[in-house]
Amino acid sequence: MDSAIIAAAVSKLRAGEVVAFPTETVYGLGADAARADAVAKIFERKGRPPDHPLIVHIADQQALTVWAGAVSPHAHTLAERFWPGPLTLILPRAPGVLDSVTGGQATIGVRCPAHPIATALLQACALHGIQGLAAPSANRFGRISPTTATHVHEEFGPDLMIVDGGPCRIGIESTIVDVSAVDPRILRPGIIGLEAIAEALHTQVFATNAEAPRVPGTLAVHYAPNTTLLLAAPSEVAEIAAALRAHGLRVIALLREGQAPPGIASIAMPLNVCAYAERLYASLRLADTARVDRIVVETPPETAEWLAIRDRLQRAAGLSR
Ligand code: TXA
Ligand code: MG
Repeated sequence: MDSAIIAAAVSKLRAGEVVAFPTETVYGLGADAARADAVAKIFERKGRPPDHPLIVHIADQQALTVWAGAVSPHAHTLAERFWPGPLTLILPRAPGVLDSVTGGQATIGVRCPAHPIATALLQACALHGIQGLAAPSANRFGRISPTTATHVHEEFGPDLMIVDGGPCRIGIESTIVDVSAVDPRILRPGIIGLEAIAEALHTQVFATNAEAPRVPGTLAVHYAPNTTLLLAAPSEVAEIAAALRAHGLRVIALLREGQAPPGIASIAMPLNVCAYAERLYASLRLADTARVDRIVVETPPETAEWLAIRDRLQRAAGLSR
């Protein structure tokens, strides 16, 4: 990456502007997390409700104490084991952290991303006194997260600076683990699974329940394409697609295993979970532009490694867990 691009991004951020940048999961819409005027621009751009908290992205583990008031042994262990990487830690907030960043909660989400351009940007920011970038996924509220610079451009148009880092390697948002209380809890599943977290902590880990703090990614309808999306077991895709067609509806299918029924357009999806995650949002965006009435997606396997994918697809289909 051209260092002039990083420098241009830093100067925008120093001026209190927002800049989109790549991470290994999805693109983020970043602003100086210590500036209320800059953070407000994120909410404006996204159309995000003001009480939904943001994740603060940091250059390295040392910066954690700027944002977190206390770093528990569990938090320390997870940061050591998985950072830089696709893991967000929820911790008690440090004094002075903006309410707009935390959604007024007593906790804060912090992540140290692994993308080399994100690292270069965050390090350059730190040199200029910006200790963290508040950055939600760079999509309008409720929509599919962007995994390429083109997707970000589709969401926000030409007047947003986008640092282009190519397609995101992981493709779905980070795993969120709440380590602010004694018992660690997963608030959003991701590529780093529950077993890996439990193994690192040598303790039992629970997944989220209804009392967990507010997480917009856990709204029933989220990550949604414009076109109505249906989930179907691999053995039922052909039948369902044919029935929809018989009702005069145009259909496209996202298929892992099955064969596209005659006359039905389809997008082939990888069998492997990591490759599937990497392709998922780009495929949903592609399906959305196919001028169809329904997107039919094969339900992925019921195994633990597919949990995060099932979660995103169920939300895209408007089904709660
Ligand atoms: O992979 C990712 O995490 C991406 C990239 C850009 O880093 N970011 C991302 O941000 O997915 P966003 O805003 O789309 O989702 C952040 C999630 C939200 O569901 C938010 O509610 C949750 O993190 N979150 C942030 N702070 C929180 C807190 N204090 N307590 C509970 N949830 C929190
Ligand atoms: Mg998001």
